[in-house]
Amino acid sequence: YKVNKAQFLLCAAWKSQWPDHDLPEICLAGRSNVGKSSLINTLTNHQKLAKVSGTPGKTRTLNFFNINDEVCLVDVPGYGYAKVSDAIKESFADMIDTYLRDRELLRGLILIVDYRHKPTRDDIQMYQYAKYYQIPVIVVATKEDKLKRNDLKKNEKRIKETLDFQKGDMFVRFSSLNKVGIDELWQDIFKLCDN
Ligand code: GTP
Ligand code: MG
Repeated sequence: YKVNKAQFLLCAAWKSQWPDHDLPEICLAGRSNVGKSSLINTLTNHQKLAKVSGTPGKTRTLNFFNINDEVCLVDVPGYGYAKVSDAIKESFADMIDTYLRDRELLRGLILIVDYRHKPTRDDIQMYQYAKYYQIPVIVVATKEDKLKRNDLKKNEKRIKETLDFQKGDMFVRFSSLNKVGIDELWQDIFKLCDN
């Protein structure tokens, strides 16, 4: 899949600001610093589309990106960042919850986890949120380059067990550094868009 156009549309804190279009939307969520911005850049082959930050927890809004006028990727703020206040955490949760619940264009969630680690409580909660709203999930295990070959299967199993991974969902091994998993992830995204 070739990305010719990758355009930042807008950022939205409120429902009234969501774009008024008819593109299928796929949202991306993950723990702060997991490599979400890198993944968006790698996936779209646009190195500066989503900012790769040294300071985690910067994104505070939903960011909408139009890809080839075919699909809209929605970047959700990184969760689990300790330094933000409880009030901000609550408003994040509210914004995400409203989006997952009310967005009719939403076709699926890409949940990005660190391939090296057992999913955190926040990861599990995000996965369960999606299941609650019956949103299909693509679990993307990123930083694959940091694993020894021997651990690939083992860690995949641990991630799936911890999340209570459901049969209809998808799992993709990914590395932004080594550009692993790009084609597979696009295929899975379009599977969801065609539903
Ligand atoms: P916030 O938006 O700040 O919450 O972070 P993020 O989830 O967008 O992460 P970001 O893409 O900014 O990457 C965080 C750090 O991980 C950076 O230092 C990246 O260079 C590194 N990183 C991201 N993806 C990979 C990967 O696939 N492999 C390796 N080795 N490092 C990665
Ligand atoms: Mg980011």
